[in-house]
Amino acid sequence: MTKLTFRRPDDWHVHFRDGDMMRTVVPFTARAFGRAIIMPNLTPPVTTAAMAQAYRERIMACVPQGVSFTPLMTCYLTDHTDPADLVAGHKAGIFTAAKLYPAHATTNSAHGVTSVDHIMPVLEAMAEHGIPLLTHGEVTRQEVDIFDREARFAEEILDPLLQRLPTLRVVMEHITTEEGASLVRANKERMGATITPQHLLYNRNALFQGGLRPHMYCLPILKREKHRLALRKAATGGEPCFFLGTDTAPHLRHLKEADCGCAGVFSAPVAVAAYLKVFAEENALDKFEGFASLNGPRFYGLAPNEERVTYEQRSGRIAEEIEVGTQGKLVALFAGEPAPWVEVA
Ligand code: NCD
Ligand code: ZN
Repeated sequence: MTKLTFRRPDDWHVHFRDGDMMRTVVPFTARAFGRAIIMPNLTPPVTTAAMAQAYRERIMACVPQGVSFTPLMTCYLTDHTDPADLVAGHKAGIFTAAKLYPAHATTNSAHGVTSVDHIMPVLEAMAEHGIPLLTHGEVTRQEVDIFDREARFAEEILDPLLQRLPTLRVVMEHITTEEGASLVRANKERMGATITPQHLLYNRNALFQGGLRPHMYCLPILKREKHRLALRKAATGGEPCFFLGTDTAPHLRHLKEADCGCAGVFSAPVAVAAYLKVFAEENALDKFEGFASLNGPRFYGLAPNEERVTYEQRSGRIAEEIEVGTQGKLVALFAGEPAPWVEVA
């Protein structure tokens, strides 16, 4: 029986939502991870330090008794972000980072940034004060094919921005392409990238396996096999610039299995097991702790978690669906299948 003991991991990209959904999903992440970077794309988005502080308190109220978990908050950048509020919020320990959603790129991004040119004073302040910029790296122009949007963002937006602001620190979130990984490597002294379990496990065929598969739909969308293989190399190769970020993004079942279904894979209940499956398949379990527990804290200038956890490679049970109050149900990654790894005491 294969067992692996490692420092408690952190999740550097999480959507908790609010209300009943938040109450349902927070315990899954809080039990598995020591800390998580919390995405700010609520309705309305988390745009000020005061909103982030209030949201952090609502999250903490959902953490089960006896579980130690720290949410790290982010500021949703808009064309109107106040640099002084962001910097003060960072100094006060409320904001860990700020998130750039190009307007209309993904779920709840209508208030996002219409052009990086409009937020240069904010980005300059972030560079000066060492506040990391987290990007949803996709261009949104209708003429650009959805499978090319990340590569075009890397080339047209991010690379020029990195040159313009040589001290800005950037995480390219949920990279899905060879091009994304290359840009991060080329700037690895000040860049990092998160990689999701679904982009390591599946290529775009999974969206159409025997029929249309709404639970495989997320943004950035699953890509070709060559990109999946490039991401597996990045995640399992021991390079410190790549780290764990699930992008767990819960949406109610009926809103995904719909005429215009929501984007997002809800992976929190099986996230660690899903990554372990990938590392075991790549014979790279010796690189797992770096990816899951060391590289992220290193980028963010935080100490790694001291506590150790142990997982065993054996089948565990995963619920077919999870109730969200009276609102509906959630379908998690691997729902109805056995979990490939299980945490043991
Ligand atoms: C995320 C969500 O639902 O908030 N969806 C997704 O497909 N990943 C937003 C995002 O991270 O793009
Ligand atoms: Zn996300």
